Amino acid sequence: MRVLVCHRLDERVMQAIEDFPGIEVTVWQQAGPMPRQAFLDQLASAEVALTMLTERVDEEALAQAPYLRLVANVAVGFDNFDLPALTRHGVMATNTPGVLTEATADIAFGLMLVAVRGMWTASLAMRRGEWRGWSPTAFLGRDLAALQLGIIGYGRIGEAVARRALAVGMRVAAVKPRHRTVEPLPGVEWWERERLVRESDVISLHVPATPETYHLCNDAFFAQMKPGAWLINTARGSVVDTAALMRALDSGRLAGAGLDVFEEEPLPADHPLFQYPQVVMTPHIGSATVETRRRMAARAWDNVVDFLSGRPPRDLLNPSVWQGQPDSL
Ligand code: DGY
Repeated sequence: MRVLVCHRLDERVMQAIEDFPGIEVTVWQQAGPMPRQAFLDQLASAEVALTMLTERVDEEALAQAPYLRLVANVAVGFDNFDLPALTRHGVMATNTPGVLTEATADIAFGLMLVAVRGMWTASLAMRRGEWRGWSPTAFLGRDLAALQLGIIGYGRIGEAVARRALAVGMRVAAVKPRHRTVEPLPGVEWWERERLVRESDVISLHVPATPETYHLCNDAFFAQMKPGAWLINTARGSVVDTAALMRALDSGRLAGAGLDVFEEEPLPADHPLFQYPQVVMTPHIGSATVETRRRMAARAWDNVVDFLSGRPPRDLLNPSVWQGQPDSL
């Protein structure tokens, strides 16, 4: 049984992987994401692969991976998987839900705080020598407690952001999830999406990347937003039409944004987004803490151990493959 690990993970988890009996482990040791051709070459003889969100597992990859049985993503998002194709090829897919909720909510909340209080623009001004002394009218942001937060995507992370916002006195509304039954936290109101877009001072996105959410935030969306509002995106870059976002910033419709994810990653150093000081940006670090990355690696490995032990992986995304049923996706 050959197991491919596409990036060296937390050392404790690597030890567990390397100590597991009866498997042959190949670990991509180089820094940065695995180059596509190297990934395809390695996948060709693997039965299990621990993938990062940078490894695309699509029809092209699957056609060249005859032995593959399981891809375990070290991420909760799995838009790097073509799930219907995986199911057609009889390959199981797993993700790591629940273990990066708080870390990602921290980054969403942090981006919101930094954007709304103008901490980034004030800091840039200070570095440029523009701090002329304390002034009652300089560097004014807004009180978080004076603002209405709107959450689109009320899953685990959306709820954890709501919890943080309620704690600092924000009013919080969310769009009620359509595909599952969930009670809002006390203090969170369900609003229709139109109302939420129109009346929120800050909108935070927590939806997965799907064809349905592609460019959810487009020109029409920004035109509906409350003038002077902020957009926070820690979900996936494809949810926001970057060109439309910049048009909304140019027109002054949007006061600013906090972005951790981008349509193009890594964001090229000469990208026009860098010209907007009112956009606070971080390089896709929602889950980037020592503890969280360890939990993510461990959870991905747990899924592999389930499979190697003859059990259905706990976070199986396409259960019909395990059940040996025809494609149900
Ligand atoms: C995820 O798990 O989907 C995150 O984006 C990775 O940090």
